[in-house]
Amino acid sequence: MPFENEVTYVKYVKNGKEKEFNELYDKACEEAKKYIGKEYKNIIGKEVEESNKIKHTSPVDGKEIGIFQAGSQKYVDEAISMLKKAQKSWFKSGYVNRARVMLKAADLMSRDKFLISALLAYENGKNRTEAMADVDEGIDFLRYYALNLIENQGFVRFTGKGYENEESMSYMKPYGVFAVIAPFNFYAITAGMVAGPLITGNSVLLKPSSDIPLTSYLYVKTLIEAGVPSENIAFISGKGSEIGPYITAHKDISGILFTGSRDAGISIFKNATKDRPKVVITEMGGKDTITVTSKADINKAVNGVYRAAFGYSGQKCSACSIAYVEEKVYDQFLTKIKETTDKLIVGDPKKLETYMGPVINKEAVEKFKKYSEVARKDGKILSGGNVIEGPGNFVRPTIVTDLPKNSDIIRHELFLPFLAIVKVKNLDEAIERINESDYGLTGGIFTEDPSEIQKYFDEVEVGTIYANRERGGSTGAMVGSQPFVGWKLSGISGKGTGSFYYLQQFLREQSQTIAH
Ligand code: SER
Repeated sequence: MPFENEVTYVKYVKNGKEKEFNELYDKACEEAKKYIGKEYKNIIGKEVEESNKIKHTSPVDGKEIGIFQAGSQKYVDEAISMLKKAQKSWFKSGYVNRARVMLKAADLMSRDKFLISALLAYENGKNRTEAMADVDEGIDFLRYYALNLIENQGFVRFTGKGYENEESMSYMKPYGVFAVIAPFNFYAITAGMVAGPLITGNSVLLKPSSDIPLTSYLYVKTLIEAGVPSENIAFISGKGSEIGPYITAHKDISGILFTGSRDAGISIFKNATKDRPKVVITEMGGKDTITVTSKADINKAVNGVYRAAFGYSGQKCSACSIAYVEEKVYDQFLTKIKETTDKLIVGDPKKLETYMGPVINKEAVEKFKKYSEVARKDGKILSGGNVIEGPGNFVRPTIVTDLPKNSDIIRHELFLPFLAIVKVKNLDEAIERINESDYGLTGGIFTEDPSEIQKYFDEVEVGTIYANRERGGSTGAMVGSQPFVGWKLSGISGKGTGSFYYLQQFLREQSQTIAH
């Protein structure tokens, strides 16, 4: 497959070029400064300025990254009217053309991948290897969807002759205009959520996360540079709570793609469909777990769990927030994971040695403090539990043990570097507890016994599962190889991103028959 898979960093290391990777990244961090401190407009066929502005600051040091527009209803209306008018001609330009444009955009992103990774350090505090993997994933979404569309010939099929004198076809056609409400934690998620409806011939309005508007703005510019007509893609930054409901309830929005918290997802679903039915596709987080049985290779398990729990400060919907560990190996696991976690380096994500950058904003720091108190009250803190003073939003990776089942730390998605470790009698108990959860996004198991893996795969009600993934535990789905899909309250559509079924969600079937 012609994807960036085997992330760029790993390729450089394998080829003995780690030093070159780091030099290119450091150079990109300097180049990134050219983009910092400017005002960025909204894009609706032209660049527009609003009277209200949003100051975008960095989670690393609180310094200003740029000024963005607080989108108004007037320009949302103008954008949607433009997108609607132009949608049919974009569809009619043909699936081959649309796929080519997306492949071109992927090449441009690939050309700029060090710069985008560096900008992510400033915007959402992702360290260099995580940021590069994120950009790789974004590029892969575009390539995967382009190839999926071509391989399926735009999803058009000859469906036969109902009567002898008839010929029938099934055409998959776009709905119209999709609104994309994107999260802060992955550039790739924004890239993929826009690419899916767009490549299938819809127009798209992107409301970026207020925490990563700059890389989202540059992504839209890249799409236009690659050949997406500027009337088919709009970029409207703004406060989600102010402009979001107006966009999602708009009568000329036919579909919505949302990734974010469960509360926001459910409220979007209700708000968007209160006056008319719409396609609403939501990915709403998780309370992801990793199970470690007595037959696990404990060193592998420790690596998988700490990476899944603390990679990007636990701010992945796939992050492991509970480890269910079989009692026979519980003490051994605890000793080793504490040792590893105590040593993790927290700091400026641009620095080579940093494992964990900041959490996204001051509210996240406050939430961290609140749950550290809950941890002390409900259980025991094994590692971390403290905020690191300074201008940025830095906290220590935190492990909590001895929590009761009903603790908020066990029940709620925190989106913080918080790992609860829970002792279980056996695999059955772990599976029972996993299936009791309202969520079902990702999960992992560590065991060297194939029958335990099979049992876990057969029984857990979770969309994306891994066995013995030392590199990422329950995280790091690769586009095309691992469709990323949530079950239960983690998602509504049941079709994964980077999956064979993903694009069909943005299309509606038209049955066409000609009688002679
Ligand atoms: N693809 C990311 C992961 O699997 C989440 O979007 O961790």
